[in-house]
Amino acid sequence: MGKITIAIDGYSSTGKSTLAKRLASALNYVYVDTGAMYRAVTLFALNHNYVGATEDIPSLIAALPNIQLKFVPNKTLGLSEMHLNGLNVEKEIRTMKVSEQVSKVAAIPEVRTKLVEMQQKMGDEKGIVMDGRDIGTVVFPNAELKIFMTASPETRATRRYKELLDRGEAVSFEEVLENVQKRDFIDSTRETSPLRKADDAIEFDNSDMGIEEQFERMHNFAQRVI
Ligand code: C5P
Repeated sequence: MGKITIAIDGYSSTGKSTLAKRLASALNYVYVDTGAMYRAVTLFALNHNYVGATEDIPSLIAALPNIQLKFVPNKTLGLSEMHLNGLNVEKEIRTMKVSEQVSKVAAIPEVRTKLVEMQQKMGDEKGIVMDGRDIGTVVFPNAELKIFMTASPETRATRRYKELLDRGEAVSFEEVLENVQKRDFIDSTRETSPLRKADDAIEFDNSDMGIEEQFERMHNFAQRVI
């Protein structure tokens, strides 16, 4: 088989993006982090007071055509960074402020329609590893390989907590655990394309697995299909 489409879905902070990135690089595929796209729309909404202290979802929907998203390669770091209307927002979209609002914004059907369309275009030529919540169910229901990642909420919150501390954000573990659980709840109970495992996805629980073992397994799944 030639190039394939690899869809990686799962709960928050299961380590999807770390693995997806590594797999893409090993296969010489394009990697797309769809969470970054929902986060960038959320940052736009926060900047315009469409979500946060005050809320105006109809105005956010009306402003969607004014939102330009672009993954721009950073050659020095060897990865792509999210640009929102021409500005590099890679750091800002990872903050707790954005995490607290993102699931609300991602539940808006008009937001999903816009982003899903962009994602499908990016995957037109296959040779792509895309991670998110609805990639195997909605964006690429015909993907040749689908993986659904899970891990216990505590394992996931611990990973996320370390990540945020490394970036210098002053957060408590309890705050992070609560955010991870709340996002999972909203993501899996929303009406439009809720987070769920596609029937033909491989379930992958990585709670007690180191990164090397996870990568080996994932790479094997891919080799079997390619
Ligand atoms: O992957 P990440 O944790 O950065 O995603 C942030 C949020 O974006 C998720 O909690 C979810 O609400 C939303 N999301 C989504 N569909 C995707 C990717 C992310 O709804 N495909």
